[in-house]
Parts: sequence; C-alpha cells; structure tokens
Amino acid sequence: MRALARRQQAHHLFPDISGAYSVMDLYSTARRVLFAMNPETAHAVTMANLDWIVHLGLHKLITHMPDDDPVTVMGVRFPNTVGLAAGMDKDGTRVSAFGGLGFGHVEIGTITPLAQPGNPKPRLFRLIPAQGVINRMGFNNEGVDQVLLNLRSADAFRLRGGVLGINIGKNAVTPIENALSDYEKCLDKVYDHADYIAVNISSPNTKNLRTLQGAGELDHLVAGITAKREALKAERGGKHVPIAVKLAPDLENDEILRCVDTLVSYGIDGVIATNTTINRKRVQGLEHAEETGGLSGAPLRERSTEVVRLIAEHVKGEIPIIASGGVMTGADAIEKLEAGAQLVQLFTGFIYNGPKLVADCVEALAAWRKSGR
Ligand SMILES: Cc1cc2nc3c(=O)[nH]c(=O)nc-3n(C[C@H](O)[C@H](O)[C@H](O)COP(=O)(O)O)c2cc1C
Repeated sequence: MRALARRQQAHHLFPDISGAYSVMDLYSTARRVLFAMNPETAHAVTMANLDWIVHLGLHKLITHMPDDDPVTVMGVRFPNTVGLAAGMDKDGTRVSAFGGLGFGHVEIGTITPLAQPGNPKPRLFRLIPAQGVINRMGFNNEGVDQVLLNLRSADAFRLRGGVLGINIGKNAVTPIENALSDYEKCLDKVYDHADYIAVNISSPNTKNLRTLQGAGELDHLVAGITAKREALKAERGGKHVPIAVKLAPDLENDEILRCVDTLVSYGIDGVIATNTTINRKRVQGLEHAEETGGLSGAPLRERSTEVVRLIAEHVKGEIPIIASGGVMTGADAIEKLEAGAQLVQLFTGFIYNGPKLVADCVEALAAWRKSGR
C-alpha cells in the first residue's frame, strides 16, 4: 500500500496527462544521454554520479524503495529477492548507493588477488535492437586489498540489512593450473567481509577460465575451495560464509548437471545460473553481434531460464539457485522463480530499463510469492 501511495505521488509530481513529463520519460531522457556516449564512458559517468544522486534523493523521481519481502537463502536473510549481478560495481565503491535503488543484495567483483587493467578497449558493446550487451571486460579491477578498503561504501547498506556478495576470480597472468591458489588468496582475504562469496568460473573473457568447469578441474577446484573454507571457519569459531558457484549457459545440459552434482557433493551453498553466453543465435546480423565476449540481456533470457529449470528439477531443493540472465521486466523475474530460482539478479535490464526495474521486480516477485505460486 505504501509503495502504491508513493508511486501515485511520483505520478502526481509528473502527471502523464499534462504531456510535460512522466516517470518513464525521465529515465528515457537519461538513457538517451547515456546511450549517446560509448558504453564504458556511460558506465563511468553513472558510477561517478550515483552517490550524490541517491544521497540527494533524485532517484526518487524515477523509482521508489520497494517494501521488504524477506527471504532466507543459503542461511542468509535477504531483505528482498532481487540483487545486482556481478560486474556493475566491480570494485565495491557504490554498494550503498545501489542498495538505495532497492536492491536487496549487491554482488561486487569479479575481483582478483592483484589489480589488473582488463582487456584493451573497446570491450563493451550495446546491441540495442535485441536489448543485449556484449562485454569482454576481462576482470578489470583494483585487486582484493584495495577493494576491501573501498567496501566502506557498503556500511550503510549492510546496517540496513542489505546483503553483500563478493565475487572472486583469478588473475589473467596466473596459469590456469594454478587457479586454485588465486581463489584461495581471495577467499582468505574476503572471508570476514562478505555475506556470501561467489566463485566465478564461467566468464568467457579470461583465457581458459571456463575449463575449470570440466569434470576433473571442477572437482579439484571445489575440493580446494571447500577445504580452505573449513580452515577459515575453524579459525573463526565456526563462522560459516556461504559460497555460490556461477556457471556458464553454454555447457551441455548433462555437463551442467554433472557440475551441480559436484557442487552439492562438496557442500557448496548455492549455484548462480547463469553467466553471459558466447552463443550468437539470437543476435545474428545485428551490429556488434560478432564482437568477441559474453552476450547478456534479452537474448540470454530463455537459455538462462532453461538452465535454472534444469538444475531445479534435478536437485529438488538440495541447493538454492540464484538466477541471472535476461531479466528485463517483472514478468521475466517471475519466470525465474517459476523455473525454481530463489533469488534473481539484474544487470543488462538495469541498463535498458533503469532503476525502476528493481522495484518492479521486487514487487512482482512479492505478489507472486504471496499468491502461493
Ligand atoms: C559489462 C558486464 C560485466 C560483467 N562482469 C562480470 C564479472 O566481473 N563477473 C561475473 O561473474 N559476471 C559478470 N557479468 C555477468 C553478469 O553478472 C550477469 O551474470 C550476466 O550479464 C547476465 O545477466 P543480465 O542478462 O541480466 O545482464 C558481466 C556482465 C556485463 C554485461
């Protein structure tokens, strides 16, 4: 009810019938300005201005804070079912500002042990007619030590009950055979600072990273990661920080289920389905479609949901699923929960549809959950 009143108030400020402004027009205008810039500049401008925009409450002209719709997943209480996917706030500098837009959780990263510049620019492309994005950023980040300092930006968010996920990966210079040691280094450093840790083995933009999803490789990696977690836990009087592993949508279905069986057998707490795709079937012929990298947004939605459903039907509740891939509307978010996910994450939908998408998804999912499915 309160949310509805606030929405009406916002419409009152910007009456559609006057023809002057509307809530949607305002984001359309901002988007026109941002889309006139190259995508990476638009991202930098957004990040540079987000704090003061949220601090002054200007975001309230286009969205509102949704009422809480709490859910416990991986043993953690999330204030609502919608989070920001990894890659938007790679260095953890704007966590509370994103929280102010209504996200219940914010996943920062992917971070690596050492700072690294990522791939040469240009490395980010919009596929506007398909509502998609292709990126080959390559884990550009300030490195785990600096990111932990940046995380003062998360204090206000976490005080309000917001959930911080830290997504970890390996440096480009680390040979793939030594990947485990990079994940261990990150685990060691982030363990006391994260509400959950996401292990990224599915980005297409770090050479050979996705081979870590192979049978022997995954077994070795997850055995090492869970052993490290047990050691950290023992040192901290039993404090358990959940770990989720993020998978690619491009694996064959039987490979996905084999990966999930491995995760369950080692006691991994969650699976994030999915990362971006290297498949270009849905964007053939569009400008930038042949750029190297991972495709996200609307063209990824169907496959990503299929993976969520495949996993959910296989694990029957044994491991929770965080859905990521192509959520552009509240209805898309419902599709993910209907397929068996417990949480959803946004990235490309946020770029195309703006901050209002967060409240739209939270409210659509709250209503869906209340309706008893
Ligand atoms: C520009 C960009 C950078 C990304 N960086 C990361 C990253 O560092 N780590 C990661 O796990 N996923 C990363 N992703 C993948 C997203 O977290 C998400 O899983 C994917 O984009 C699918 O969701 P979407 O269709 O809502 O965008 C990135 C995506 C984009 C578009």
